[in-house]
Amino acid sequence: MKRSHHCAQLTTAELGATVSLLGWVDSIRDHGGILFIDLRDRKGITQVMFDPKANATVGEQAAHLKPESVIGITGKVVARPEGTVNGALPTGGIEVEATELTIHNVSDTPPFPLDDVGGDKVNEDLRLTYRYLDLRRPKMRKNLQVRHKAAKSIRDYFDSQEFIEVETPALFKSTPEGAREYLVPSRIHAGQFYALSQSPQQFKQILMVAGVEKYFQIARCFRDEDLRADRQMEFTQVDVEASFVTREDIYALFEGMLTKLWKDVLGTEIQTPFLRMPFHEAMNRFGVDKPDVRFGLELMDFTELFNTSGFKVFASTAAGGGAIKAINAKGLADLTQGELKALEEIAKSLGAKGLAFIKVEGGEWKSPIVKFFSEAEKAALTAQLEVGEGDMIFFAAAPWEKACAILGRIRLEAAQLLVKRGKMTIRHDDWKFLWVIDFPLMSHDEAENRYVATHHPFTAPVPEDAAYLDSDPKKVRGQHYDVVLNGMELGGGSIRIHNPAMQKKIFEDVLKIPADVVESRFGYMLKAFTYGAPPHGGIAFGLDRMCALLCGTTSIRDVIAFPKTQKGQDLMAQSPTPVTAKQLKELHIATVMPE
Ligand code: AMO
Ligand code: AMP
Repeated sequence: MKRSHHCAQLTTAELGATVSLLGWVDSIRDHGGILFIDLRDRKGITQVMFDPKANATVGEQAAHLKPESVIGITGKVVARPEGTVNGALPTGGIEVEATELTIHNVSDTPPFPLDDVGGDKVNEDLRLTYRYLDLRRPKMRKNLQVRHKAAKSIRDYFDSQEFIEVETPALFKSTPEGAREYLVPSRIHAGQFYALSQSPQQFKQILMVAGVEKYFQIARCFRDEDLRADRQMEFTQVDVEASFVTREDIYALFEGMLTKLWKDVLGTEIQTPFLRMPFHEAMNRFGVDKPDVRFGLELMDFTELFNTSGFKVFASTAAGGGAIKAINAKGLADLTQGELKALEEIAKSLGAKGLAFIKVEGGEWKSPIVKFFSEAEKAALTAQLEVGEGDMIFFAAAPWEKACAILGRIRLEAAQLLVKRGKMTIRHDDWKFLWVIDFPLMSHDEAENRYVATHHPFTAPVPEDAAYLDSDPKKVRGQHYDVVLNGMELGGGSIRIHNPAMQKKIFEDVLKIPADVVESRFGYMLKAFTYGAPPHGGIAFGLDRMCALLCGTTSIRDVIAFPKTQKGQDLMAQSPTPVTAKQLKELHIATVMPE
């Protein structure tokens, strides 16, 4: 049987027509022997009527149907009787009187309801185990469509800008400088391994040496990371590289892509150019390098004020070169004891010694620490934090970056608590894009006591800072940029080093990677650069994160057809699994189980 129409297509315009439909039984209602079935296909729903009095064979057959069975029907389009018209559905004015029924498969009872509301209440593990059922839900079907549309919009955009899509290998070599890699044993070369590509970074730079000039790829990347709502081990990047470009060119290129994308998918105009915020300012005001600027609650600095304070914790932190930061969570004085404890735990998990607070209730400052504050200190706090009745102030005293990070996190938590109380609104479709720029090129890894690249080791220093590479690497800014939307890092990139001597210097003198290791890991790249490497730069965007934001969901698992759980498992196909001794032997591998 072939369909003549889709289920969403039939209206009163087709009255009297004989039509054939294919699809799944969405629901069955029995009205005194007459069965009404909502038939669903990928486009929508049509009501089909089986009347045993009008057609005994079909009526008898239909009695065996269960929800989610797959059927084909032929019948006549008729008007629904007065009073049964459903204005909410495009097909709500008609129904189809079935004269023929083909049952392709009767379904077992699904383990959870397949509507949007019912399905959302179900444990995600169950949804992932039966992902093929979960994906039948209208919301999930829509997410897949949005993702398709987004990818098409992006491809069309880069094509229009004369970029070409080039595929690069997933099986790469191990270059352990970034995230942890997945290793793949070689059968042919005993004891040797490939690594799954974390990103096409090195290949796209090589493509610039190859003269491609404008490259993009919707590329699958693999990272053995701890998984979260915005992280998968296998994810997709919109990866881009171009030759002879400046940072400004990349900003304009990507703002153009995002403008088109938001228009194509949501029909929304976004504002360009995006705000640009130096890393230091982002940390100082929002406590994070991916600030959510949809709401205030900004961090304020009181280091100078408390320099000579009677409160020793603050005074000694300030004297030791640290910072005293505070935020006013306006209206959060009604915080419960449990909520306060939870915030303290979060602060401590980020290395805080405590989370000092002031609660303003009944005109009084309730706090274990105000007794140490002078009148001048109180007046300064009141003025700068605009302290009022019902407010809740939090403090962090620690080295600057840590104090910022602690309060940055408390700011987000406090915002959620205010939203929960209806005291603040944060709209998911209030699109606040920004570029975070002027990152330090290197950060110091305390544990390893060496410098590590903030972005990656291929990022070029800001030219006027390069002089400090030997004397004070911390002072050198990188030509690195991140694009941030509503608290999520959507993408990041940089202008690259194209001079082989400079690249070698970064590896060996700044990152202190031994020369022989540099040679074995990156020798091929340094060699390529000696054959005419153009100046180049690029960026990569997380397609999964972008789609999650476009779909208004907080988990990228909702926009990936077959994601892994937080524990890295595929619950449907059941992976990972043990393999046979024979397979391992062929790969020259022996496993050692943990104690
Ligand atoms: P970076 O490592 O910042 O840059 O990655 C770019 C973007 O990819 C997304 N992303 C992820 N999404 C889901 N799950 C993950 N585990 C995950 N990891 C990263 C983020 C991130 O912003 N080669 C460089 C880019 C460049 O310099 O051009 C790179 O990979 O949205
Ligand atoms: P203490 O003097 O240690 O009893 O601390 C008094 C208050 O200050 C408590 O509420 C602590 O949680 C808080 N506190 C202590 N150290 C810090 C710090 N480094 N930053 C912010 N608050 C702190």
